Amino acid sequence: MESRITELKEEAISAIEVASAVSTPKAAQEALKETRIRFLGKTGSISLLSEGMRSLTKEERPRIGQLLNELRNIVTAALDEKEAALTALADAAAFASIDTSLPGTASLSGSLHPLTLLVDRAVQIFRRLGFAIADGPDIETEWHCFDALNTPADHPARNEQDTFYLPDGRLLRTHTSSIQIRTMVANPPPIRIIAPGAAYRRDEVDATHLAQFTQMEGLTVAPGVNLGDLKGTIEFFFHELFGPGTEIRFRPHFFPFTEPSYEIDIRTESLGGKWMELAGCGMVDPAVFAEVNKARGDDAYDPERISGFAFGFGLDRLAMNLTGISDIRMLTENDLRFLSRFPA
Ligand code: PHE
Repeated sequence: MESRITELKEEAISAIEVASAVSTPKAAQEALKETRIRFLGKTGSISLLSEGMRSLTKEERPRIGQLLNELRNIVTAALDEKEAALTALADAAAFASIDTSLPGTASLSGSLHPLTLLVDRAVQIFRRLGFAIADGPDIETEWHCFDALNTPADHPARNEQDTFYLPDGRLLRTHTSSIQIRTMVANPPPIRIIAPGAAYRRDEVDATHLAQFTQMEGLTVAPGVNLGDLKGTIEFFFHELFGPGTEIRFRPHFFPFTEPSYEIDIRTESLGGKWMELAGCGMVDPAVFAEVNKARGDDAYDPERISGFAFGFGLDRLAMNLTGISDIRMLTENDLRFLSRFPA
């Protein structure tokens, strides 16, 4: 048996040499595979020889077993070595035909919409002042959008021509101020939230109007909140957004849900140096707190103990000014020539 092992070793080594020298690397790889099966496979010569162990005496077994193991290891190592060399050869041949100095194919990568980028920036600034994000549905009840905001049924904003109504009487919210109401009905004071989201109006779509636009609402309610807090918050926001040189003007105005109310204009050289009307704001009207208390069934928003300010921006006009486009519709048209100017 021992001599058969030595013989088999020589036979295997020379078979491996022959196989690895076959014409092409691919054919040689195939030949090596066959050689492996011929010697090491389940019915290969080494396996068959191992079966002969059974007829050996107890004394012979360990020695022959060891020799068989060695044989197996030597043949396996020789096969592995030749195969690795052939794989390296095949790889080198494959790479030889590739010209790495040729220019590559550019891959298209997406980016965020300029409006989304602006919302993210605004959210980050308010976050630093401790504002949390609140949310509400786009399809609203008249109560959340108007009644609770001290806007009675005969108010012009309730006109069917101004708003999209559903057959069941609900409507597409005309402003994000409805989120103020939802937040206060669900939570007692103190409140400090911003609410970015879509708002809808039955406007003729043109270069400066969209029927769906984006607003960001803000609300702070706590004991002792005053107009100075409102002005400080607004000034901080615009100085962060447009730079410390930005001028800010509060113009007296009227909103049913705030008293006193203001419109906010800003002027900065980087946006053409003209006054732009950007937002509405004011101190929350006590009538709004009264409606909220009624809905809550408690007195959490007692106007004698707490006060608050609210503001609302349209973000589309702002995005328009920041991106330097003269037609607001470009924000909704998904024209890649426009969108690809804003890499993420
Ligand atoms: N909701 C008002 C608008 O859409 C903006 C606003 C919000 C005004 C909050 C005052 C307070 O024009």
